[in-house]
Amino acid sequence: MSIGRSVTRLRFAILWLGLLLAANLSFGQGAGDGIPSDEGQVAAGAELFDANCSSCHAVHEQVVGPALKAVYERRDVKWIQNFVKYPKKVIDSGDEYAKALYEQYQQYMPNQAVSDEEILSILAYVKAETIAGPKVAEVATDPAAGDAAVAGAEQAVSTNLLIGIIIGLGVILVIVLVVLLMLINVLTKYLNQQKDLSSDDAAYVNQKFDLSAVFKSQIFVGFASFVFIIVVAKATIDGLFSIGVQQGYAPEQPIAFSHKLHAGYYEIDCKYCHTGVEKSKNANIPSANICMNCHSQVRTESEEIQKIYAAIENNQPIQWVRIHNLPDLAYFNHQQHVKVGGVECETCHGDIKEMEIVQQHSLLTMGWCIDCHRKTDVNTKGNEYYDRLVELHESTAKEPMKVENIGGLECAKCHY
Ligand code: HEC
Ligand code: HEC
Ligand code: HEC
Ligand code: HEC
Ligand code: HEC
Ligand code: HEC
Repeated sequence: MSIGRSVTRLRFAILWLGLLLAANLSFGQGAGDGIPSDEGQVAAGAELFDANCSSCHAVHEQVVGPALKAVYERRDVKWIQNFVKYPKKVIDSGDEYAKALYEQYQQYMPNQAVSDEEILSILAYVKAETIAGPKVAEVATDPAAGDAAVAGAEQAVSTNLLIGIIIGLGVILVIVLVVLLMLINVLTKYLNQQKDLSSDDAAYVNQKFDLSAVFKSQIFVGFASFVFIIVVAKATIDGLFSIGVQQGYAPEQPIAFSHKLHAGYYEIDCKYCHTGVEKSKNANIPSANICMNCHSQVRTESEEIQKIYAAIENNQPIQWVRIHNLPDLAYFNHQQHVKVGGVECETCHGDIKEMEIVQQHSLLTMGWCIDCHRKTDVNTKGNEYYDRLVELHESTAKEPMKVENIGGLECAKCHY
């Protein structure tokens, strides 16, 4: 009987290996985008890219056109081939995605005289570069940026390593599976030839496979719990990372004040109410007195306006609910961005002039700040302080001076 049990165990084991293998194989997939990955194509793509596209595009950075990193995940190959050959036609055809691109870049990419085959090679190159991650040397002008690039490269290495390990495990699993199958065949045959096999054992050896037994088996229950725990852990970690991220937060305010009406329709300047934006850290929320400049006359009978009068009579500020809120550990200064940097309110706050109720447009995470500091050129126009810096910068680099080059990635600039 014990021999019979072992054979059954062996069958279970094989089933599980098979399942693991299936899971493993589906892990390694995802290459169904039809983009070749062989070195010849990639090299040909690199040449074509340099000759035709590199004046406006880079893989990891925005140049004149968007960064092409992972573009094959944003659009399918057919779309890209069509777009690259006839961008204006695609944009003018009303394609939503293309229209949005055009609105962002405000120019038509010229028609490219390349064939579908050549575009496929370029995509092969773009994909290889996307997977490889940004190069260290390209970004390492600032120590902090260098660190980040190294971290990026390390991440790419560890991802490759992980894929290698998974593939290796898969191969080992296949070999073990084949050996076990051979073993079980031999064993079954051998046992069946044994004359002194008890009927009990014989039943075990020749039993049909019973699926319900599998679901009750300890291995199955263990495996299912394991998967469950992993899923819960992932959800928890994702949840933790989004704590404090309040993008889209749009609380109801004590008075139905509308930016769409005041800043949009009546075109009242933001600075008329947010008096601090050009001269201090804080933009300021206007006091009721500023409202009174108009509302001592305008719409005096309105219930909402009566609330302003009540606040003034009771000598109580209006209890506006704060929407944007950085944690205390971070330092952000409006003057620096609006006045010195020349950044528009809308870049960070979205289209406030269209908002009936203000909502948080940006993430306001550290990554968000850093990302913009990497991408944005320093506004040096009419600022003598920067003239020397720019000269210095241009003597060593060909790219325009970005915020990161003047220390925009230094921890102490944003953290007390
Ligand atoms: C003269 C500048 C210029 C050249 C050269 C150029 N592009 Fe573009 N490209 C752009 C601009 C600008 C956009 C943004 C869309 C628009 O406004 O037309 C763009 C958009 C794209 C997009 C869409 C990107 C996305 O994020 O969805 C792809 C793909 C693309 N280009 C590929 C290429 C390829 C491939 C080449 C070379 C064969 C090339 N481009 C050459 C300027 C250029
Ligand atoms: C007539 C006065 C007035 C004008 C003009 C005005 N605002 Fe406001 N703004 C307010 C008041 C009052 C609040 C607080 C109530 C609210 O959130 O709606 C506010 C809130 C905000 C907030 C959210 C603040 C928070 O709590 O985090 C932002 C961002 C903002 N305004 C941006 C702008 C921009 C950008 C403009 C110009 C396009 C502008 N405002 C024009 C009065 C004004
Ligand atoms: C520069 C002038 C001006 C300032 C300053 C101003 N408002 Fe207004 N407000 C208007 C005008 C004009 C209207 C539209 C009146 C109408 O529809 O007849 C209006 C309409 C409103 C309404 C809608 C009233 C209703 O019942 O339709 C509210 C609420 C309001 N304002 C609140 C405020 C608050 C709160 C402030 C101060 C943060 C403020 N306003 C500052 C000019 C101003
Ligand atoms: C570079 C991004 C950026 C730009 C540009 C910007 N803001 Fe802000 N704004 C922020 C951030 C970040 C906060 C949150 C600050 C905090 O919590 O300390 C904020 C907060 C505010 C607040 C809430 C009150 C306060 O002072 O914290 C108002 C009002 C506001 N901004 C208005 C404006 C207006 C008006 C402009 C344009 C003149 C503008 N902002 C431009 C990023 C920006
Ligand atoms: C939309 C782009 C943008 C975003 C988003 C942004 N910044 Fe900036 N930041 C700038 C620009 C442009 C300058 C350069 C201003 C100048 O010329 O001095 C700057 C400069 C700074 C500086 C001064 C750096 C120095 O070396 O003098 C600090 C500090 C800073 N930003 C903090 C922040 C923080 C904190 C956030 C996020 C809450 C943030 N910034 C988000 C564009 C941005
Ligand atoms: C351009 C501005 C900026 C720079 C440069 C910057 N940070 Fe931050 N950092 C922020 C902002 C804004 C937050 C708050 C973001 C949030 O609450 O999600 C933050 C949050 C943090 C936190 C807290 C994270 C958390 O989850 O609460 C740590 C730790 C931190 N930063 C460390 C650093 C270190 C170390 C550096 C230097 C390598 C650095 N930061 C550089 C803007 C910056």
